[in-house]
Amino acid sequence: MQSMQSEVVVLIGGSGGIGQAAARRFAQAGAHVVLVARGQEALERAAAQVHQAGGQASILTADVSQPGAATALAKQVEQTLGRVDVLVYGAAVFHAAPVTALDLDVARRAMDINYWGAVYAVQAFLPLVRAGQRKCIALVSSLSVHCTPAFFTAYAAPKHALHGFALSLRQELAPEGIRVVLVAPGPVDTGLIEGYLHGDLYRLPPGVPVLTPDEAARGLVQAVLQRRQQVVLPRRFAPLARLSIAFPVLLDMYYRWTLRHWRESVRQTVAATHNADSPTTSVPAESPCHQSVQKYRPGHGP
Ligand SMILES: NC(=O)c1ccc[n+]([C@@H]2O[C@H](COP(=O)([O-])OP(=O)(O)OC[C@H]3O[C@@H](n4cnc5c(N)ncnc54)[C@H](OP(=O)(O)O)[C@@H]3O)[C@@H](O)[C@H]2O)c1
Repeated sequence: MQSMQSEVVVLIGGSGGIGQAAARRFAQAGAHVVLVARGQEALERAAAQVHQAGGQASILTADVSQPGAATALAKQVEQTLGRVDVLVYGAAVFHAAPVTALDLDVARRAMDINYWGAVYAVQAFLPLVRAGQRKCIALVSSLSVHCTPAFFTAYAAPKHALHGFALSLRQELAPEGIRVVLVAPGPVDTGLIEGYLHGDLYRLPPGVPVLTPDEAARGLVQAVLQRRQQVVLPRRFAPLARLSIAFPVLLDMYYRWTLRHWRESVRQTVAATHNADSPTTSVPAESPCHQSVQKYRPGHGP
C-alpha cells in the first residue's frame, strides 16, 4: 500500500462500520486520522483500535447535519493539524418504508444527514483540502443509486442528490487538482442496516453479496489512493450498475424475476396494520420504519 505518512484524513462517520474500518486502513498507511461522529463512546473505541495498531487518531464529536457544525470542526482541525489531505464523508442513516407509511420527519432527517451534511462538510473543509498534498474528497454513496430497490425512497433520494452534487463538484475542482471520489457500496454488514436486511422491506436478490465493513473500507481506501472517479463495491457489480442505467427496463425485469412476490407481501403486511389492533410486521421494533408503519392507520397517516 502507498505510504500516507504525515497525511491527515478526516472521516466524517468514522466511529462505525465502513468509516471505522477505513480509519484503521488509512492509519496503517501512516495517516493521522480524525474521526467525527455524534457518539463519544463509539469514537473513543474506534480511536483506541487505531492506537492499539500503532496509528494516530483524534476524535471530534459533532452532529454534522447541523449548519455550522462542519465549520466548527474545520476550525479545530486547522488549529491542530493545519490541513486535510483526504476528506471522507460517510455519515448516514437508513430508512426503508412503503411510501404511504413513510415517516416524513425521518425522511427529512435522512436528507439532512446523508446529503446536506456532505454539502456543509465540503464547504467548510475545502480550504483545508486545498492546503493538503493529496487533495481528495471521497463521498460515500450507495449502489442503490444505480440499482434502486422498492421501499428505499427515503434513503435513495439523498444518495441521488449526493451523486449530482459530486458530479458537478468534480468538474469544478478538477482544474485545481482536487479529486472527487464517489464510492457506491452494495449491502455491507454494519449497524446502518441492522434489523432491516433480509426483513420485509429489504430483500436481496439471489447472488448479491453482503460485504464486511473491512471489504468495503478496502475498496474505499483503494479508490482514494488510485484517485478513481467512481467505484462500485464489490467491483464486479460495476457492469450491472452501468447496465441498469443504460437499460432501466432490464433492472425492472431482474427485480421482478428474482423477487417475484416481494412487493405484494409487503403491501399485505402494511394493509394488515390498518385493521389490526396490534399490528405485527417483521420490521425491527425499534426502527423508525416500525414507528412509521404503526403510525399509518386511517386518520393518523401522514
Ligand atoms: N451498510 C450498508 O449496507 C451500506 C451500503 C451502501 C452504502 N453505505 C454507506 O456507507 C456509509 C457508511 O455506512 P455504514 O454502514 O458504515 O454506517 P454505520 O455503521 O451506521 O456508520 C455511520 C457513521 O455515521 C455517523 N453518523 C451518523 N449520523 C451522523 C451525524 N448526524 N453526524 C455525525 N456523524 C453521524 C455514525 O456515528 P453516530 O451515530 O455516533 O453519529 C457512524 O459513525 C454511509 O454513507 C452509508 O449510506 C452503507
